[in-house]
Amino acid sequence: MLPVSLKVQRRIPGEKPYWAAYAVEVEENGRVLDALHQVKWHQDGTLSFRRSCAHGVCGSDAMMINGVNRLACAVLCRDLEQPITVEPLRGLNVEKDLIVDMEPFFEAYKAVKPWLVNDDPPPTRERLQTPEQRRRYDDTTKCILCAACTTSCPIFWGDDRYVGPAAIVNAHRFIYDSRDQGGEERLEILSSEDGAFRCRTTFNCSDACPRGIKVTEAIQEVKRSILRKKI
Ligand code: SF4
Ligand code: F3S
Ligand code: FES
Repeated sequence: MLPVSLKVQRRIPGEKPYWAAYAVEVEENGRVLDALHQVKWHQDGTLSFRRSCAHGVCGSDAMMINGVNRLACAVLCRDLEQPITVEPLRGLNVEKDLIVDMEPFFEAYKAVKPWLVNDDPPPTRERLQTPEQRRRYDDTTKCILCAACTTSCPIFWGDDRYVGPAAIVNAHRFIYDSRDQGGEERLEILSSEDGAFRCRTTFNCSDACPRGIKVTEAIQEVKRSILRKKI
C-alpha cells in the first residue's frame, strides 16, 4: 500500500475556506480519486466532490491537483509530490469543497449551438462524409466537458463573460462538420465581444486538457474562419 498525505481545501458555505490534512493509504497504483474516497468513506463523510465514471470518461471530477487542473480519476498518487494539494477549479463559484457551479460553463456551451444543424429533409440513409471530411474535426469530438480548459484560462478568470475554450472547442466540432449548416451562425456568435478573439493564445487550455485536444489550435482555426468569413 502507498501512504498518501492529502491537503484538501475545504469550502463550506458560511465559513472561511481552510486547508484540511488527511493521511490515507491507497493501492500502489491508486489515483487521487481513490485517496479522496478513502477520506470520504472512512474519515470524513462531509467532504464533497463530484465523480461518476471513475475512468476518465464523464468529465465530472476535474479539480486542481498540485496547482494543475486534472481529473482526479486519471492521476496516480505515486506520480505526484506529497502532500498532494487538492482545490476546486478556479473561476467558477464554489458550492461546497471541490464542487463548483457548472451552470455558467454549460450556458456558454449551449450558446454556440453544439448540435447538428441541417434543414434538409432527413435522408433515408445516414448522412455520408469522407474520412478526410471527418478528420477535419476529429480532435474536437473528444471533449468530455470537464471544464479543465476554461477554468485554467486567465482571460476567463478575469471576466467570466468570455465564452471560454471549451465552448469554442465544441463549436469547432460542428463548424467543420461537412454535414452541418450552422457554421456561419456559430462563427457570428463567436465573433462577438465575448467570443474567440478574447483568447490571447496563452495555451493553458491545451496544457490542461485531459483528452489531449489541441484546444488553442482549434481556437486559432475558428478565429481564422471568422476573419476570412469562410469555413
Ligand atoms: Fe475538458 Fe478538454 Fe473538453 Fe476542455 S476541451 S472541456 S479540457 S475535455
Ligand atoms: Fe485562454 Fe487557452 Fe486562449 S488559456 S487565452 S483560451 S489559448
Ligand atoms: Fe468520470 Fe473522472 S469520474 S472522468
